Amino acid sequence: MMVDQEFDFRGAVRQQWDALARVYQTYRSTGDSFNDLIEIPAMHSLLGDVKDLRVLDAGCGTGELACYCAAAGANVTGVDIAEEMITEARDRATRRNLDIRFLTGDIENLPDLQSGQFDLVIVSVAIAGRLYEIVAESRRLLRNGGALCISDVHPIVNCGQNESRDGKPGIFVHDYFERSLRKTVNPFGQSCGQEDVEFIWQYYTLGDYFDALWKNGFVVERYLEPEPMAEGMPKKLERAKSYPIFFLVRSRKEGRLDES
Ligand SMILES: C[S@@+](CC[C@H](N)C(=O)[O-])C[C@H]1O[C@@H](n2cnc3c(N)ncnc32)[C@H](O)[C@@H]1O
Repeated sequence: MMVDQEFDFRGAVRQQWDALARVYQTYRSTGDSFNDLIEIPAMHSLLGDVKDLRVLDAGCGTGELACYCAAAGANVTGVDIAEEMITEARDRATRRNLDIRFLTGDIENLPDLQSGQFDLVIVSVAIAGRLYEIVAESRRLLRNGGALCISDVHPIVNCGQNESRDGKPGIFVHDYFERSLRKTVNPFGQSCGQEDVEFIWQYYTLGDYFDALWKNGFVVERYLEPEPMAEGMPKKLERAKSYPIFFLVRSRKEGRLDES
């Protein structure tokens, strides 16, 4: 479903994530979500050794990756637009006795953070709004040679409908090139509650992510479409064997931006 562009998009994103903070925390605590079993192992591999790195977890949500990096010896800042998410993230870090700076802010524009102060920026399933602005702001915040690690739900999932043929789960892809605001209801499963929370995001094609990186002077180092790693996957995740649910890309900031 596509929605009208003429409304306070940022306010809506903040509101939906404030409302979903608890639900998301529950969803990510089960240990058997798509993220846990497919995205996170791939993200850990993409991040590599983060010891002593200055890391920004942009759109940190409940702080799972911020805590992972801090526990591995990084100096971590986490930013999220939703105050409730930051509260959950702070609680998680306190429970784990980790020292992390958490801030509320919009990752499209973070004027309180100095240019070039990070070695690594992570944007993990957090691009709800303007992709090009988020990549440009990440560039500003990174030192030359610093890395940007993005993960996201694969666009074919976001523009497709589940469909089974011959007993095999598949997906019917449509409106792939329709870069519009998309809307659904709480996508984190009935078992997590709050089914009625409306959920919106700006849809991009896979090519748009690479275009945004290229236009902002990033060189792609690695691209992953992770397959399920765990034996005995829960039945609800079977479809992940059929098509990619996530993609991840690691890129490096080049010294100068070609204006051509
Ligand atoms: C699916 S959650 C992912 C959270 C976390 N990165 C993780 O991997 O668990 C998306 C998060 O992005 C945040 N977000 C979306 N747009 C944002 C923006 N423009 N600025 C800051 N945070 C944003 C939301 O508030 C939400 O916490």
